[in-house]
Amino acid sequence: MSLWGGRFADQPSALFKRFNDSLPFDRRLVEHDITASIAWAEAIADAGVLTAAELGTLTEALQTLLSRVRASPDLLASAADEDVHSWVERELVALTGDLGKKLHTGRSRNDQVATDLRLWTAQAIDGLIHLLRVAQRSLVSFAQRELAHKTVIPGYTHLQRGQPVLLAHWAMAYVQMLDRDAERFVDALRRTQVSPLGSGALAGTAYAIDRLALAKRLGFDAITPNSLDAVADRDFVFESISACTLCVIHLSRLAEDLILYSSSEFGFVHMDDSVTSGSSLMPQKKNPDAMELIRGKSARTLGNLVTIATLIKGLPLAYNKDLQEDKEPLFDAVDHLAISLQMVPPCIDGITIDRARCRAAADDGLIPATDLADYLVRKGIPFRDAHHICGRLVRRAIELRTTLIALPIQEMQSIEPRIATDVYDHLTIEAMLAKRAIPGGTGLAPVANAIEEAARRLGG
Ligand code: ARG
Repeated sequence: MSLWGGRFADQPSALFKRFNDSLPFDRRLVEHDITASIAWAEAIADAGVLTAAELGTLTEALQTLLSRVRASPDLLASAADEDVHSWVERELVALTGDLGKKLHTGRSRNDQVATDLRLWTAQAIDGLIHLLRVAQRSLVSFAQRELAHKTVIPGYTHLQRGQPVLLAHWAMAYVQMLDRDAERFVDALRRTQVSPLGSGALAGTAYAIDRLALAKRLGFDAITPNSLDAVADRDFVFESISACTLCVIHLSRLAEDLILYSSSEFGFVHMDDSVTSGSSLMPQKKNPDAMELIRGKSARTLGNLVTIATLIKGLPLAYNKDLQEDKEPLFDAVDHLAISLQMVPPCIDGITIDRARCRAAADDGLIPATDLADYLVRKGIPFRDAHHICGRLVRRAIELRTTLIALPIQEMQSIEPRIATDVYDHLTIEAMLAKRAIPGGTGLAPVANAIEEAARRLGG
């Protein structure tokens, strides 16, 4: 029997029931629905709706349900109820008889589902932040290891070799991105932890509920100030999916770098067998599937963000059934970010670095061009002129099929007489790195500081 059958002479059609039911997916909210129901029972008991004895019986029955669903999470999988709220109420009535029918006094599924989903989201965000920190820690360990080896790679712009950078600096760039993601989750959490309970269907409950006490009992920090907004608001869903989206975009960029770096063309890194797969036809293949799937799965998260944005756009106040469609995109975004984040440590920890190959690429003969221009600046030449002179030197080196560092001094001086033999000291990788000791730069000291700061902060 549905929660609302009295007004209807006929049953819903089987097709409509299948279309309308949300239990197949909202059953994930069951623990929160029960917890919120226990708190609601206490609130209406305080308001005089239930006696202390009735409250005791209801609480005990709800606790029993909670233990049952915890013991067998699939308990709801085959149930025929319309949604998770109907399931809990039916089970409660089965345990307590008519008393169970009192629980819904002053409550609507509209404030109930908004409450459940906020509780679920808050817990999910906590879990994601934890996974994100674990992923960061493995990137920091990677950076520590590669800093000790002073591993250098070319830094790229336009995917063309630009200037040498420490591989540790590259890894720490991703630690930074994930730091911002964590901040966004914390911020989303702040607006999620507000209780809509007591808003009723749309106008506020008619019972004298202490909403703040009820909110605190559920771990919320505050109560929503407007009942119409409270039952219709899904900003917290949007914001959470949005934070997930940016985070998977960052993971996707990390994946893309590693896919490139593990290709034969780059050959900087080798991914571990445990996170790669082979080809059914080409026996030599070892494909970076884990990374490709991190990159690929980010597409669905972006889709989920579009779904929730489109869902809430243009909805009239207050609750509309459209909002039932908020859950699957949220669950999907959280699930896929969670598993993608979990893939990061095994992928990063298992990487083997071909340090000689990295260095050879960073030792690209033309890469010191910027530092050569800086050398000329030090000789009193304005940078724009120095840039131009360097451009001519690069052209000359290419003509002679050589590198800047191997370009004979006579050749250099024929283009710019102020160049002296000390120029070569400025063009080594070590010299180039040493000059970038600025905070945020790729010098050994600033990178070591960044790693130390992150390691201290992230612990573990
Ligand atoms: N299953 C519904 C949802 O997820 C619960 C709320 C139903 N409210 C209603 N007025 N029919 O949104």
